[in-house]
Amino acid sequence: MKHLLSAGDLSLDEVMSLLDLAEQMHDVQSRSIKKLPALRGRTIINMFFEDSTRTRTSFELAGKWLSADTINISAKGSSVSKGESMKDTMRTLDAMGVDAFVIRHAGSGTVHQAAGWVRASVINAGDGQHEHPTQALLDAYTMRRHFRDALGAEPGDRPFAGRTVLITGDLLHSRVVRSNVLLLRTLGARTIICAPPTLMPSGAASWPVEVTNDFDAALPEADIVMMLRVQRERMTSGYFPSEREYIAGWGLTATRMARMKDSAAICHPGPMNRGLEISSEAADAANSLILDQVSAGVAVRMAALYQILGGEGDVA
Ligand code: CP
Repeated sequence: MKHLLSAGDLSLDEVMSLLDLAEQMHDVQSRSIKKLPALRGRTIINMFFEDSTRTRTSFELAGKWLSADTINISAKGSSVSKGESMKDTMRTLDAMGVDAFVIRHAGSGTVHQAAGWVRASVINAGDGQHEHPTQALLDAYTMRRHFRDALGAEPGDRPFAGRTVLITGDLLHSRVVRSNVLLLRTLGARTIICAPPTLMPSGAASWPVEVTNDFDAALPEADIVMMLRVQRERMTSGYFPSEREYIAGWGLTATRMARMKDSAAICHPGPMNRGLEISSEAADAANSLILDQVSAGVAVRMAALYQILGGEGDVA
């Protein structure tokens, strides 16, 4: 694997191999000395042109724990702020001999374009409203662990077969839903997507999913209830009449949680709007996997960097 640009580029074998490798990386994460020599001598540049807490930090930790040299670059503080194009900036850094770029950018498709400009590997850390493949991988990792540890299911070759994942929220502006839909198709899950009509992507009817606006009807079907953030910063007009009406229709409230299966779990990629798409009761519930997702983020990104940069040595 040279680049990681889209969740849809990964075969089932590649996904399972990444998730299995992430299990080993997760063991490293729980050690007191979290260091493997696997990527010694490799250099990774994290270029974040949009804000991030989870993705940027976990990629940096992942690189450091694999002994790579990691450098963080943002628009402010680089020559991009003087008017240099992203292409020239990347080609400049590429000429210095770096091995990989991890890129987050507000422009949908920008990261794919960037992969054509440089010799180094490129990893998509979220591009506009397009894709966020490592988020989908860490979500899959977290869900697979839940199916195995909480429900006692053997992982096997198709751990998602017969499972239903319900993704609800501001789908129109979400790159997470797009990557999850692609990955869940590969994994063989049944996926239901749910949003107010104004926040449903126009092409959703052609996606490999079931589409609904009725959260209450879909909730009892789900093994995983994945809530997505209302992305106010991407909204140029009013997409729903009021927050109260959004919560009434699509918020995961304490009352609504009672409609979930006893064995179902709650996910949210973060950052959360507590009290809007998800209540504190749901975010902090015993069946919430939200912090497990954060933890999985480091292990999955370690696995991705290891695979892409041809990591060496035993990870056990
Ligand atoms: N889930 C996610 O991408 O979070 P950050 O924006 O904090 O990286």
